[in-house]
Amino acid sequence: MPSLEEELFPSTPGKFKIDRGHSMNRQFHRCFASTSTMFLWALFLIALTASYLSFQSFVDSGSRYFSASWGGIQWEKQVRNSAQIHRSGGMSVLVTGAAGFVGTHVSLALKKRGDGVVGLDNFNNYYDPSLKRARKSLLNSHGVLVVEGDLNDGKLLAKLFDVVAFTHVMHLAAQAGVRYAMENPNSYVHSNIAGLVSLLEVCKSANPQPAIVWASSSSVYGLNDKVPFSEADRTDQPASLYAATKKAGEEITHTYNHIYGLSITGLRFFTVYGPWGRPDMAYFSFTRNILQGKPITIYRGKNRADLARDFTYIDDIVKGCLGSLDTSGKSTGTGGKKKGNAPYRIFNLGNTSPVKVPVLVNILERHLKVKAKRNIVDMPGNGDVPFTHANISHAQREFGYKPTTDLQTGLKKFVRWYLSYYGYNNRKGLQ
Ligand SMILES: NC(=O)c1ccc[n+]([C@@H]2O[C@H](COP(=O)([O-])OP(=O)(O)OC[C@H]3O[C@@H](n4cnc5c(N)ncnc54)[C@H](O)[C@@H]3O)[C@@H](O)[C@H]2O)c1
Ligand SMILES: *[C@@H]1O[C@H](CO)[C@@H](O)[C@H](O)[C@H]1NC(C)=O
Repeated sequence: MPSLEEELFPSTPGKFKIDRGHSMNRQFHRCFASTSTMFLWALFLIALTASYLSFQSFVDSGSRYFSASWGGIQWEKQVRNSAQIHRSGGMSVLVTGAAGFVGTHVSLALKKRGDGVVGLDNFNNYYDPSLKRARKSLLNSHGVLVVEGDLNDGKLLAKLFDVVAFTHVMHLAAQAGVRYAMENPNSYVHSNIAGLVSLLEVCKSANPQPAIVWASSSSVYGLNDKVPFSEADRTDQPASLYAATKKAGEEITHTYNHIYGLSITGLRFFTVYGPWGRPDMAYFSFTRNILQGKPITIYRGKNRADLARDFTYIDDIVKGCLGSLDTSGKSTGTGGKKKGNAPYRIFNLGNTSPVKVPVLVNILERHLKVKAKRNIVDMPGNGDVPFTHANISHAQREFGYKPTTDLQTGLKKFVRWYLSYYGYNNRKGLQ
């Protein structure tokens, strides 16, 4: 019997090449002659793969993602309290990504009008987690509990639905940012794909099923250059992995609507900004650098064209989120079975007036009373698109969405928050 090494690496490779058909045939026979050896090796390989996979998931679940602790009678009581509804016809909402920028604002707005809110967030360090902790404290002081955990922790999600019969899920947790996808592509798959499916699995089995409103992104329009961007425009040319995972989310949620009768509303946000914002976004890092006297990098598109964004103030986005929740209708399934037609909707939430990035910088300079050091460079191919512009007539029709804050006014509020949060107010020359 030939050894396995001979089986895999014939000792006369030259001959193997020339006399291919014949040799292949002989190899084939020899393989079958040694089925028992092959069987043992196959078994060994399967065992190796299995132990590798279980080690991987052990690493994932153990140290990196699910380090938070939860459970117990006291914990359940806190969850129930936070979910308590304080108005007639109110809803109880699970807000994922509650310690994030948009999640914090939406949670506060829901709580203030008397709805029940429970937050979920994994407090990852994509950007300064101390900002997330500060947002959490703000939420706590308004009676909103933020549970620390990961979307992929199905047991935790199931437990939350055990304790509270959520009527709605506002799903905002995600790996955001376009450029970071080149550095850490797996974080996008982990949160925006696997995490989304994990959440939908629990929602589909919940009784009653919650209606789901979730954040897609204007980035799904990708290389589309027909303006303004309308929901019916093509979204099959993503320019970044981030955009691709958001587009995938739109398709994945569609299947859960179709098969299990989950009510789904996808919101394509257009560059959201405001107080408690995200430090990785341009308006935020420009502000930081201008105040520290550091240069800012302004990208320029093809033919030296300025980049433009349909900057949308956070309060307008919050109104859009609440309007979506209020009109989301019911899911039509129970215990994983579909009983009727639940809505599947997609809305742009933008401002409808794009502003060129250099104009944004001018406004910041005026509000900060400091001149920026501009470093203008051609845009590298990193996933950014040259411009965005929302057509919002769909959201306007369905729930009266109408943004009311222009960039000048919104940035003034952002700068006021920034200076106070980072303690600039006590220093000379800046108020
Ligand atoms: N801000 C914008 O301009 C903008 C534009 C388009 C779309 N969006 C989308 O809106 C949503 C909210 O964005 P944001 O600006 O508030 O971002 P954010 O990063 O501030 O908030 C997201 C939160 O989700 C949490 N999170 C991430 N992965 C998680 C996981 N696996 N499990 C649990 N928590 C997790 C993060 O810790 C973070 O606090 C995101 O889905 C984002 O993709 C935002
Ligand atoms: C905006 O979208 C609506 C559909 O919601 C469409 O009828 C209308 O033509 C669009 N407007 C523009 C200017 O593209």
